[in-house]
Amino acid sequence: MSIQSSIRRKTAPDIRARKQGEPIVMLTSYHAHTAALVDLHCDVILVGDSLGNVMHGFETTVPVTLDMMILQGAAVMRGSRQALVVVDMPFGSYEGSREQAFNSAVRIMKETQCGAVKLEGGVRMAETIAFLSGRGIPVMGHIGLTPQSINTLGSFRAQGRNEMDWGPIEDDAKAVADAGAFSVVVEAVAEPLARKITETIAIPTIGIGASAACDGQVLVLEDMLGLSPRTPKFVRRYGNLGPAIEAAIEGYAADVRSRAFPGPEHVYEMKKR
Ligand code: KIV
Repeated sequence: MSIQSSIRRKTAPDIRARKQGEPIVMLTSYHAHTAALVDLHCDVILVGDSLGNVMHGFETTVPVTLDMMILQGAAVMRGSRQALVVVDMPFGSYEGSREQAFNSAVRIMKETQCGAVKLEGGVRMAETIAFLSGRGIPVMGHIGLTPQSINTLGSFRAQGRNEMDWGPIEDDAKAVADAGAFSVVVEAVAEPLARKITETIAIPTIGIGASAACDGQVLVLEDMLGLSPRTPKFVRRYGNLGPAIEAAIEGYAADVRSRAFPGPEHVYEMKKR
């Protein structure tokens, strides 16, 4: 007998069907407990390779490995119930060939049971996106600023500020959509271009620093909660948890030092949040 949850998890086709509909709400999460909170209000949870910066303190996402993504992807699946979970394919796990991408994506899908993968690149990755999509792997694209290419880009800069530079980014958007991606992240792209792309392609665009013209939005959870030491300028903060966490730790340290710490009768009582 199979055990079926009464809650139906959103799928890639559900998100694809939201083009020009209700805006798609997406946030990152890398852990079971934050995933459970994000799951209450979001359509999509992205297990982003930004976990390299947020969890591991790397300067870029380049050092992130497939094993790291799988470990956190599985945790997010355990913590969430209704959102589509999308796991990032890390740098070096998919660019070599369509077959390399397929093998990496299969590992992600089997070992995390997530609903889709995300990869960076437009025209150059179109063939790979078509290969994966045609073999049962839903793919979210990622164009505009692609952080895994930092070593060739040189810096994290907004894309398409000058209309003369729009062509290649428009080509990327069209290539990803035509290749069969179910949606595409558009990162750090000037508003008029993000609007034009959103109006032109048939799949939902999910913006990050790309204006409200997109079909949905994504942010890094720790950035919008005020937990990250540095955030891009476009990030709107919805909380300022850094000082609150520090105050709680300070209170704990003071309790320990003054021996005002609760005894075992309290320690083993589980309290709900
Ligand atoms: O890794 C990540 O968190 C991302 C988002 C910034 C879109 O790719």
